Amino acid sequence: MPLNRAIESNFNTQLSEKAQFVNDTLSRLVAKQTDISSDLEKAIRYTLEAGGKRVRSALVLWCCELVSGRVNRDAEIAAAAIEMVHTYSLVHDDLPAMDDDDFRRGLPTCHKAFDEATALLAGDALLTLAFEVLAKEIDAAPIAVRLIGELAQAAGPAGMIAGQMADLKAENGRGSEEILEYIHINKTAKMFRCAAAMGAICGMASDDDFDRLCEYGLKIGLGFQIADDILDVCASSEHLGKTAGKDAKAGKVTYPTVVGMKKSKQLAEKLADEAVAVLEPFGQKADTLRNFAIALLKRTR
Ligand code: IPE
Ligand code: IPE
Ligand code: MG
Ligand code: MG
Ligand code: MG
Repeated sequence: MPLNRAIESNFNTQLSEKAQFVNDTLSRLVAKQTDISSDLEKAIRYTLEAGGKRVRSALVLWCCELVSGRVNRDAEIAAAAIEMVHTYSLVHDDLPAMDDDDFRRGLPTCHKAFDEATALLAGDALLTLAFEVLAKEIDAAPIAVRLIGELAQAAGPAGMIAGQMADLKAENGRGSEEILEYIHINKTAKMFRCAAAMGAICGMASDDDFDRLCEYGLKIGLGFQIADDILDVCASSEHLGKTAGKDAKAGKVTYPTVVGMKKSKQLAEKLADEAVAVLEPFGQKADTLRNFAIALLKRTR
């Protein structure tokens, strides 16, 4: 499904507006941590401010907007919290004991710019801060508890950690589509599902809308990781802001290695189409999420 140029450019503007909004919130929330040591604060700010694409946080904001008509303060906090957890996951993913990467978001990785212990602790700090922020900044306790539960489940041992564990265990093995799907759903797709769920919760979505948005999130999340595997093969390090060609060197089980490039692209497109189909009952209101599904899979970085 193509995305025409005008829609694409409009969509990119919408995404950068959301990214700026999230960046401001993150900055404010970190600034509130007055007891933090300056070394730790430097490492946290270094990784957070390197500026990721902020797609998970944008998804929180758009899902809240879709079901309630606007971004509210809870969604603002939830968006920042998921971005903190995502950023922690990258800091740890890059450590020598894991993917051993030297570049991230266009800069030396946290353990290269500082040292390994600082990177470990900066990651730990971001992970715990996310939950502190949800507990303290969300006014209604039932909403805070639901958000905390969703984020903990997605990032935890039956979510991202399970996927990261399986990803490392699969290194240098033959892999299979079944193993790959397990890895990608857990390490990446569940966090996208969680972003959608958090946005839906903040916007007080009906149960049906909540389920629809979760399904949409899981599908685009899987497609997003397939696209990440494809970009590792096809894009340049400069453009990606992280070292390209690393997956093959590390013997990673990826979609291009297991099913081939052509089928990987077809699968990513199929997932985007299916994600768009899930949005049908929302009508035109869901245009931004439709464009997001298509843009994520067509992305070049
Ligand atoms: C990278 O995520 C890790 C994956 C799950 C593929 P992003 O591509 O969203 O990284 P940033 O946040 O933009 O740096
Ligand atoms: C990382 O997947 C997923 C995470 C949970 C952090 P990758 O290892 O493929 O992500 P990149 O390519 O290093 O960004
Ligand atoms: Mg990894
Ligand atoms: Mg990695
Ligand atoms: Mg990758």
